[in-house]
Amino acid sequence: MSNTDKQPSSGLDRILTLELARVSERAAVSAARLRGHGDEMAADQAAVDAMRRELNRLPIDGTVVIGEGERDEAPMLYIGENVGTKQGPKVDIALDPLEGTTICAKNLPNSLAVIALAPAGDLLNAPDSYMDKIAIGPGYKAGLIDLDAPIAENIAAVAKEKGVKVSEVTACVLDRPRHARLIEEIRATGAAIRLIGDGDVAGVIHTTDPDETGIDIYAGIGGAPEGVLAAAALRCIGGQMQSRLVITRDEQVERAHRMGIEDIKKKYTLEEMAGPDVLFAATGVTDGNFLQGVRFGRHHITTHTVVMRSSTGTVRYIKAQHTDLEKFHLD
Ligand code: FBP
Repeated sequence: MSNTDKQPSSGLDRILTLELARVSERAAVSAARLRGHGDEMAADQAAVDAMRRELNRLPIDGTVVIGEGERDEAPMLYIGENVGTKQGPKVDIALDPLEGTTICAKNLPNSLAVIALAPAGDLLNAPDSYMDKIAIGPGYKAGLIDLDAPIAENIAAVAKEKGVKVSEVTACVLDRPRHARLIEEIRATGAAIRLIGDGDVAGVIHTTDPDETGIDIYAGIGGAPEGVLAAAALRCIGGQMQSRLVITRDEQVERAHRMGIEDIKKKYTLEEMAGPDVLFAATGVTDGNFLQGVRFGRHHITTHTVVMRSSTGTVRYIKAQHTDLEKFHLD
């Protein structure tokens, strides 16, 4: 997306951009303490506790729209939970305090603490179901990819626009049995595949910097909440994404209807998933392609965070050294 396409900010405070970094930093540090310990639930819980505590300090009247689950299944940061000091703008929040719980437990690359914030009503209220996604980074002509077109066509279009051979394109796909056919179809084109074990928020974001990450296109089915978070990031950095909920069970249909989704087969554009004035922050828990993980030093803790704002298109990488270790030990 070019800067001329950016909409004027609807008033989300600029200061909130940095405040949001604090929220993801604290969640990442708490999760990282349990990195590599094989306990996914403990790491996730630590991240949830820290994110919630920090979120409640923000001067916002926030509602969690993408969170840890429905109220009856998630005691904290559940969908509909009101967060913040309640003094400030009314905002909707999408969050995943630990995106990639398994990769954190195994200390593998690309687990993140992630949060996005937008004026109320500007983030897709997706149910906790699967979502079919396709995404590419910025710099391509509009409408280049289509979720409903064969993957071979999408890859060919990317290769043509990039001015490379199809064999020089790399697609990122979650390594799941459900993707056997997709993987076969990509292989048939001659393109390369980066199979990831988990973490498709990072997978989608990786398309925005192929020179650094080696990934040109993301495709396949992952979590719907993760899809909205990835869309928020792409809305800030630029890029294209389309998605469709993958809803199979009756209770999911009911849940989607309750959330205001009438057509469960609707194909969403990036713009329909995240509005024009979104803030996004992610802090690395484990080392990854675009963010390093948390470092615990003798005298300070180091975090690497990216914070973005769609209304300006600013993308900030923040390497923070936290010397107030007492504060972090509370987490
Ligand atoms: P968690 O952090 O909840 O473990 O999610 C990790 C993840 O890999 C997501 O990035 C992805 O969207 C989703 O799981 C895929 O779901 P599944 O593991 O059921 O295929």
